Amino acid sequence: MLTQLQTDQLKIEYLQPIETAKETENSFDQDIKKGLNECPKKIPSKYFYDDQGSQLFEQICELPEYYPTRTEASILRQYVEEIAQITGTCELVELGSGSSTKTRLLLDAYDKQNDGFKYMPIDVSAGILKESALQLQQEYSSLEIQGLVGTYHQALTQLTPTAWPARMIFFLGSSIGNFSETDYDNFLNKIAHVLEKGDYFLLGIDLQKPKSILEAAYNDSQGVTAAFNLNMLAHLNHQFEGNFDVNCFYHQAIYNEEKKQIEMYLVSEKEQEIVLKNLDLKVNVKKGERILTEISRKFDVEETRDKLESKDLNPVKVFTDENNWFALILCQACK
Ligand code: TRP
Repeated sequence: MLTQLQTDQLKIEYLQPIETAKETENSFDQDIKKGLNECPKKIPSKYFYDDQGSQLFEQICELPEYYPTRTEASILRQYVEEIAQITGTCELVELGSGSSTKTRLLLDAYDKQNDGFKYMPIDVSAGILKESALQLQQEYSSLEIQGLVGTYHQALTQLTPTAWPARMIFFLGSSIGNFSETDYDNFLNKIAHVLEKGDYFLLGIDLQKPKSILEAAYNDSQGVTAAFNLNMLAHLNHQFEGNFDVNCFYHQAIYNEEKKQIEMYLVSEKEQEIVLKNLDLKVNVKKGERILTEISRKFDVEETRDKLESKDLNPVKVFTDENNWFALILCQACK
C-alpha cells in the first residue's frame, strides 16, 4: 500500500487498483455512455459528487424534511454505549466516512471505555479523508487512525486481518439503499467474506413509511435536493465538455410503492441533442423524457434481518427511533 501521510498515530494509504486497472479506468467513464443509451436513460450517481455536489449534500442532511440523518444520529446518541459494550474494544472501519457527527458519537463511546481502539475511515476522496483524519487526531489524542483511499470494493477485498480483538465495519446513512438489489446482495457477500467469526457489522437502514413523508424528504421546500440533482449535469458539462442545458431540466423524486424505492429523475423540458465531447457521445433527449439519477430503497426490519442472517451475519440487536423511521442493525459474523 502506498502511504500518503504518516505520523505516529495517523496514516493515510491508497488501496491498490483492482487487477484489471486499465479496463476499470476506461469503464469509469464508459458507464455514462452506456447509461445514456439505455431506456429509460440513467446517469450513475457517483457523478453527484464534485465539490459543489458534496457541499449541497451536506446541506440536504440538515434540511427539516430530510429526517434520515437526524434520526440515525438520535438512535446512535441513545445506544452507542450499548453498542460499544456489546462489541468491546475493537477496530472501527467506516465505509464512506462522510458524516463526521455520527462518527464522533461512536468514537466518543469507545473512547469512554478507555480500552483503546482504532479508527479506519475509507473514502474515495483523499482530500476529505485527510482533512477529517487530521481533525479527529486533534480531538482524540490517543486514537490510532489509518485512513484508506479507495472504493468499497477495493477496501473489502484488501482489508487484512486486524490485530485488535475484533473488528466492526459500519455503513451508515442508508447508503446501502442506493445499491440495486444485485449490488446489495454482492456487497453483503463481501462484508461476510472479509469479517472473521465474532466480528461485527453495523448497518443503518431507512425504513418503509408513508409516501408523503418519503417524497417530502427528497423534494424539500428550499429546493436544495433539486439543486443537488441538477448539479450533476453541470458537473458532466464541466468534466466532459458537455452541453446539457441545465435550465431546461427539472428535478423529480417519486416513491415507487411497488419497488419500495425513491427514484430521482431529471426531466427534460424540451427536446435536446446532448453532446459530451470528451466522450465522443451524442444522444437525443425528448421533451418530457426522464433520466434516472438515483434510487433509494426503503427497508423492512424483518426482511433485512433475514437477509443478513442468510449471509451468516447474525443480527445481535436492532435499534430504532420512536417512530420506527430508521433502524441500526448490529450483526455478528458467525462463520
Ligand atoms: N443514502 C442517502 C439516501 O438515499 C443519500 C442520498 C443519495 C440522497 N442521493 C440522495 C439524499 C439525493 C438526498 C437526495 O437518502
